[in-house]
Amino acid sequence: MRFEGRVAVVTGAAHGLGLDAARGFAREGARVLMVDRDPAGHEAAAALRAEGHDVRFRAADVTRAADVAAYVEAALEAWGAIHCFFNNAGIEGEVKPLVEQEEAVFDAVLAVNVKGVFLGLRHVLPVMRAQGQGAVVNTASTAGLVGSAGLSPYVASKQAVLGLTKSVAGEVAREGVRVNAICPGPTETRMIHSLEEQAARRGANDPAERYRAAIPMGRYCLPSEITAAVLFLCSEAASGITGAHLQVDGGRTACPMGSAMR
Ligand SMILES: NC(=O)c1ccc[n+]([C@@H]2O[C@H](COP(=O)([O-])OP(=O)(O)OC[C@H]3O[C@@H](n4cnc5c(N)ncnc54)[C@H](O)[C@@H]3O)[C@@H](O)[C@H]2O)c1
Repeated sequence: MRFEGRVAVVTGAAHGLGLDAARGFAREGARVLMVDRDPAGHEAAAALRAEGHDVRFRAADVTRAADVAAYVEAALEAWGAIHCFFNNAGIEGEVKPLVEQEEAVFDAVLAVNVKGVFLGLRHVLPVMRAQGQGAVVNTASTAGLVGSAGLSPYVASKQAVLGLTKSVAGEVAREGVRVNAICPGPTETRMIHSLEEQAARRGANDPAERYRAAIPMGRYCLPSEITAAVLFLCSEAASGITGAHLQVDGGRTACPMGSAMR
């Protein structure tokens, strides 16, 4: 029970990686505030409470400062502290060349993936500084490390997440607060299947097979494999790690040709 007596806040917690991480924190003893704009998070939180965990859900749009302030306040009202923050909500945007990208889609992707992460940091870090302790994990992506033709707004947003992570880590490091990022590769959630479907609609031949072939392990990661990295970075075992990014990608960025040259 690495997080007994700790409070964790997780955004994008109604589905996918956020939901799995919320479950992981709760099962390791944390009290968890699940945050999402999708009210389906109410049922997800209820399911965890039925397992005996102290979990609440707060509906919020991470792009709205008032909503962010309100979810931080909700965690403090309930439990008086925030020790771990998984700043994770994100959207993928549309798969098309940059010259076809709609301005509104670019704005939406940057709003959720960059401004949402910024606002989370802006409102949670003062709490952690006052406590003299805390650990944040921002969700970037392997798209934060390399380009991806057809996904320029998403790639730009995830590279910005790494910039925010490294800069702010240096600002709070002497106050007991660590800020890191995870860079998942393709992982089994709604998002990767949306990207596959969009690529297929644009005429790509079996994108799922092509994506998997570019991963040395030959498969997508599982949400539980991302959760394991998030919990590690939030735990005492990572006490010397800040401003870092951790790839959990089956070897994809290390070896982008996958197993093709074997
Ligand atoms: N699945 C992958 O292959 C993959 C790979 C790399 C990075 N990521 C990143 O992981 C994170 C989680 O994605 P996922 O795969 O779980 O996708 P997902 O679509 O299953 O989950 C994303 C969650 O974020 C929520 N959300 C979206 N916009 C929001 C907003 N404005 N306010 C509050 N909540 C909002 C959604 O309702 C949803 O519950 C994202 O940041 C994504 O970019 C995913």
